[in-house]
Amino acid sequence: MQLAPDLLARLAGREPVLVLAGAGLSAASGVPTFRAAQTGLWAKFRPEELATAEAYQRDPKTVWQWYVWRRELIQKAQPNAAHHALTTWQKQRPVTIVTQNVDGLQARAGGDAIEFHGNIERNLCFDEHRVLTDDDIIAGEPPTCRHCNAYARPGVVWFGEAIPEYALLQANQAAEQCHTVVSVGTSSLVYPANALVETALRAGAAFVEINPEQTPVSSLADYRLAAGAEEVLPRLIEALGFNE
Ligand code: OAD
Repeated sequence: MQLAPDLLARLAGREPVLVLAGAGLSAASGVPTFRAAQTGLWAKFRPEELATAEAYQRDPKTVWQWYVWRRELIQKAQPNAAHHALTTWQKQRPVTIVTQNVDGLQARAGGDAIEFHGNIERNLCFDEHRVLTDDDIIAGEPPTCRHCNAYARPGVVWFGEAIPEYALLQANQAAEQCHTVVSVGTSSLVYPANALVETALRAGAAFVEINPEQTPVSSLADYRLAAGAEEVLPRLIEALGFNE
């Protein structure tokens, strides 16, 4: 994999960059992606049975247990070289990171990420949607909200739900204003996250894709870096001289 000199020259400048991250960013941390043929979460489970509000109402115990399993897996995971490289980059240049990942690993690597699909660690009240602290919760499977007795639910965006307004606003603004958009570790299949690349391209940005596999937007990429994020991002940051 070659890092083109004109790509490095572009990123050496101080113009704003948008990084749109997906599950592939955390793959090297041992967090399963969604759509890998054998190991992806959606190869083993049906999203409509686990990741919708209707599924939770239908079978709260199964859905809650699935999230407990994923939370435990994520708590044991550590940020990898790709998360650390993004944090380093962000310290040197105006880089907005929009992550579809709910694992919080970018924040644990010291980075600042717009969590487009929420955060799995957080609990919300199912009825009132407000954030619940541990003191607001009565233990159970699933736990319930102490104030209104509704179920607690994980603070992630389920299929059919809207992206948190603030995250959508900030992400769209970053897409409209960026000079380069870097898509890393996402299949680009899920709307509206995938539309951020189109927004950036319409506004004149260059497009870099970091992904070992082709995606529906690969043909639009000005630069395709076809390898793992944990390999590409540290090399990129080193070539730019940002880790001194
Ligand atoms: P996917 O599982 O759809 O795609 C993961 C992408 O990462 C694939 O294109 C892989 O080729 C790529 N990949 C795998 N290993 C990689 C590595 N080491 N480095 C770089 N890329 C790698 O995951 P997302 O695109 O994140 O939504 O999925 C988008 C959304 O769909 C998720 O946020 C989730 C899911 O349903 C919600 O939970 C709302």
